[in-house]
Amino acid sequence: MATQLDEPVIDRKIPNVKGIPFVGNTIEMAKDPAAFFVRAYRDYGPIYRVNVFGRKQYVIAGTEAAKLMSTKKGRDGLRSKEFWQDFVDHYGASKTLTQIDGEEHRKMRGIMRKGFSREAAAGRYHELTHIVDKSIMRDWNPSKRENVPVVEGFQYMIVQMIGEMMSGEAPLEYVKDIRTNILFLLNVLVARVRPKIFLQSPKFKKASKRVDELGAKMVAQFQAYAESGELPDNLLGDVYQAHIDDPEFVQARDLSVLLTGPYVAGLDTVANTVAAATYGILKTPGVLEKVQAEADALYAKDTVTEADVRGLDYIQGCLKEAMRLWPIAVAQMRTTNYDLEFEGHIIPKDELIFIGTSVPHFMEEYFPDPFKFDPERFNEDRREHMKPGVYAPFGRGPHSCLGQNLAEVLMGTIMARLFHRLELSLDPVDYTLKTKTAPTPGPAMSFAVKVQGERHPAKALTPEILET
Ligand code: HEM
Repeated sequence: MATQLDEPVIDRKIPNVKGIPFVGNTIEMAKDPAAFFVRAYRDYGPIYRVNVFGRKQYVIAGTEAAKLMSTKKGRDGLRSKEFWQDFVDHYGASKTLTQIDGEEHRKMRGIMRKGFSREAAAGRYHELTHIVDKSIMRDWNPSKRENVPVVEGFQYMIVQMIGEMMSGEAPLEYVKDIRTNILFLLNVLVARVRPKIFLQSPKFKKASKRVDELGAKMVAQFQAYAESGELPDNLLGDVYQAHIDDPEFVQARDLSVLLTGPYVAGLDTVANTVAAATYGILKTPGVLEKVQAEADALYAKDTVTEADVRGLDYIQGCLKEAMRLWPIAVAQMRTTNYDLEFEGHIIPKDELIFIGTSVPHFMEEYFPDPFKFDPERFNEDRREHMKPGVYAPFGRGPHSCLGQNLAEVLMGTIMARLFHRLELSLDPVDYTLKTKTAPTPGPAMSFAVKVQGERHPAKALTPEILET
């Protein structure tokens, strides 16, 4: 047999992962998808079939699968469309970046690349820091010495940051609605772990109406900017310009979903990762002191630059370690474009498959003592994550995270400022993290930390003067 790529292959039978009668693998997978994919990889190898909710689905996993995604065969043979289609249809849009493939996708990434890059934060670290400070006063107030729900606290913080970076203003009065809207849409239309009836709930409808209202306001605002020849230099400015240049490609009906896109991409991903890092830092002996020392050294300066935030080696190590142990994308979903050969097997055309790129994160062959939170694994002298295919928290291939570099500086700023400003502890001190799997895997919403007090007051930073 030959695939479309005309490679000779041996079509061995793809193993089915043994499960419970009727429910198959649904329960084991729902409980801890990462552990399930690793267990199945150990038992069956890099390709197997699972039975979830009565559907047989193919899984490819491990370094083999991660490497495939970056090759021409993976790029040509896999598409992203179906996974995001319901979301796009909900908005009555023609496309989103996540749901298009091939040439169209390359073109849209080109339009959005600059707005999603680290440049969006250049010269604005004083503002980002100020957003963390305001958020601390509102949700983590040290004078109250309360327990703070960590994921939710970070969700509010990141919505404000993304608003400032991507559109030039933080729509504060809409933060709650944006958050509710996105969580419902991801649960129902993307992760598909809640039935569609959930979208009839008054809570969702109210939030959705408000987000539509915000969308309409912003579209009108950007139209006015364009008419006066003063489109701002940010993601939405670039998207609006692309709409003017090529209204067939970026259609008027796409503007609203493109506007919400950054929140969908950044809300849960960042909030879950910084929450997981917070747990790792507070739980692991010896880590907090090093984080505090690095954060205090940063804020001993009057001006903070991108290089400073990227140079937070220990804190960035904590974030990398959080993304290794609690990856937000345990697996990526794709559909096969043709009969695809993988490791001597054929996956038929038009199959929706899971790609378990996070499996190597938990294998001692690559990460010794894999369940230990050890931020120093990523140091120059160890670089455990640099072996091919072993570490992919931002995904692989054409749809890999466009906001990766921006995410790293936003998360570095959040962690450094929070641990510089506040004395935090787990409550109880030996607390063991509970996790959730939907809409995005990560710490449970119930994870709370105790704000024990203030370490340093909120000293404002001097803005950086950028060379033009
Ligand atoms: C810890 C933080 C983050 C993690 C771990 C993360 C991870 C990922 C992953 C795994 C994907 C690929 C999904 C797939 O292939 O199906 C992705 C896509 C994407 N991410 Fe992130 N992300 C993070 C933060 C952000 C932020 C802050 C932004 C921007 C505000 C962003 C923008 C995007 C975009 C636009 C895509 C879609 C790329 C495409 O389809 O071409 N991400 N992200």
